[in-house]
Amino acid sequence: MPISAKMLETLDRRRKTVLASGGEDKIKERNAKGLLTARQRLLELFQPGTFQEAGMHVEHSGEHFGMKGKVLPADGVIAGVGYIDGRPVAAFSQDFLVFGGSLGAKHAKKICDLQDYAAKAGIPLIGINDSGGARIQEGVMALSGYAQVFYRNVVLSGLVPQFSIIAGPCAGGAAYSPALTDFIIMTRKNAQMFICGPEVIKAATGQSATVDQFATAEAHATVSGNIHFVAEDDKHAIQIARKVLSFLPANNISDPPHHLPATIDMTEDPKINDLIPEDPKQPLDTAKVIERIVDGGEFVEVQRDFAKNIIVGFARIQGIVIGIIGSQSTQKAGTIDIDAADKAARFIRFCNCFNIPLVTLVDTGGFLPGLQQERGGIIRHGAKMLFAYSAATVPKITLIMRKAYGGAFIAMCCHDLGADAVYAWPSAEIAVMGAEGAAKILFKREITAAADPKAKEAELVADYREKFASPYQAAGAGLVTDVISPAQTRGILAMALRNSLTKRETRPPKKHGNIPL
Ligand code: HXC
Repeated sequence: MPISAKMLETLDRRRKTVLASGGEDKIKERNAKGLLTARQRLLELFQPGTFQEAGMHVEHSGEHFGMKGKVLPADGVIAGVGYIDGRPVAAFSQDFLVFGGSLGAKHAKKICDLQDYAAKAGIPLIGINDSGGARIQEGVMALSGYAQVFYRNVVLSGLVPQFSIIAGPCAGGAAYSPALTDFIIMTRKNAQMFICGPEVIKAATGQSATVDQFATAEAHATVSGNIHFVAEDDKHAIQIARKVLSFLPANNISDPPHHLPATIDMTEDPKINDLIPEDPKQPLDTAKVIERIVDGGEFVEVQRDFAKNIIVGFARIQGIVIGIIGSQSTQKAGTIDIDAADKAARFIRFCNCFNIPLVTLVDTGGFLPGLQQERGGIIRHGAKMLFAYSAATVPKITLIMRKAYGGAFIAMCCHDLGADAVYAWPSAEIAVMGAEGAAKILFKREITAAADPKAKEAELVADYREKFASPYQAAGAGLVTDVISPAQTRGILAMALRNSLTKRETRPPKKHGNIPL
């Protein structure tokens, strides 16, 4: 049948109806509040002219509560594929102007179809969430739709990177789709995420709680640790997603986008020495070390406001994409506590899924002592780091900058957890515990019996430090690949990473390991 003018008019009219979703006034009102519409968000996300929409003409299947005959443009979710930095990425964006972005059966099907496509094509998936949750009029079919989305989030996990942007309400079980993805970016002002809102909490427990206490980006970034990035607004959230993607491969069987130079630059950087305090009791700012050793000082920190005693994030060293895990001794002496262990373990596992080499920077006084930590399960949580590092088969390079005591020496990827190279600065102290604590336990009797116990203690502490609190005992045992000067760090790490980029390590086949959750 030839294409008539009428056919084209119909197509044009249908398209216009969908594109005008919400109506001019509501769109203006939204923009005036500093919020983008669902469609504007996708246009902002993708390179101009590259967004290919799927399911524009999908209609809802609701039959009850006056739904029959109602027109819901695109059934409240815009889905498709576009390009970011020249690479295809799948994305959906919930349209709050259509029934509050609520999820019905067809809305869910559009998301599921996109998830299936992302899995088959091997491309990342970004979900922009702005929704009142399950569409009440569609009852159990809406719940079923959510379950189908969750199921696919899990199928996609470890296959392609998954991002969630929370740019509006994300209430009830709906929060579990973002929680099953790799990174959650949440806008500071308009977004809320919770399982039970203040009214439900009050009714069920009698407790009064405000949304600010538990559901905002600030609360999730600092207290619950549920999210990874706080964005100032929609555009910033999109910029963050694009930036993180620039370090990631499209899928688990591709390499990350390394930019490998022809030769490795071994130029020394003596300024790094200035960062190391004379007194080992003074903290060393690992963030500043990272800034000096990575390309252009560019480090994309993940979960910056949560468990600040450990730093995790992405960077490049001489073009090689890496995931950095660094103790931060400016916070809690760089000790590993429950939150730090959770944060690090999850990040390590993400990097391992997507072939991103790990660089671990160590300056830790050990696992954080305390009743709260013991009762909170530091054994189980700390074990996650041991598990994650041991299970990781990507290149693993460790640099011991200063303290590496006890279990934390092991948990920060020592040689025996499979590190491919372990470097130590001459300032490294690798021991079962700090010299003061060790001398007090080992030489208790000598110290008490001495004429001047304080002087004796100082002498024994110095003796212990000399013998054990240095890198040379570990290096002598073959547990340190080399002791290097701090100025050599960037070149040596680049060389070690480059040497191990072709690493292949296989383990006996199994369904999956059982990480202590
Ligand atoms: C159908 C919904 C809806 C929903 C909002 N709307 N949520 N329609 N199903 N779940 C509609 C409203 O009726 C309204 O329609 C429009 O969207 C905008 O909503 P408002 O309330 O006017 O906007 P606002 O004041 O900004 O409040 C937004 C809101 C609130 C906070 C999201 O609407 C709200 O609390 N909604 C219900 C949230 C909820 O309890 N959802 C179920 C969660 S349980 P009109 O026509 O007036 O413009 C759940 C289970 C998932 O999701 C389980 C998965 C396992």
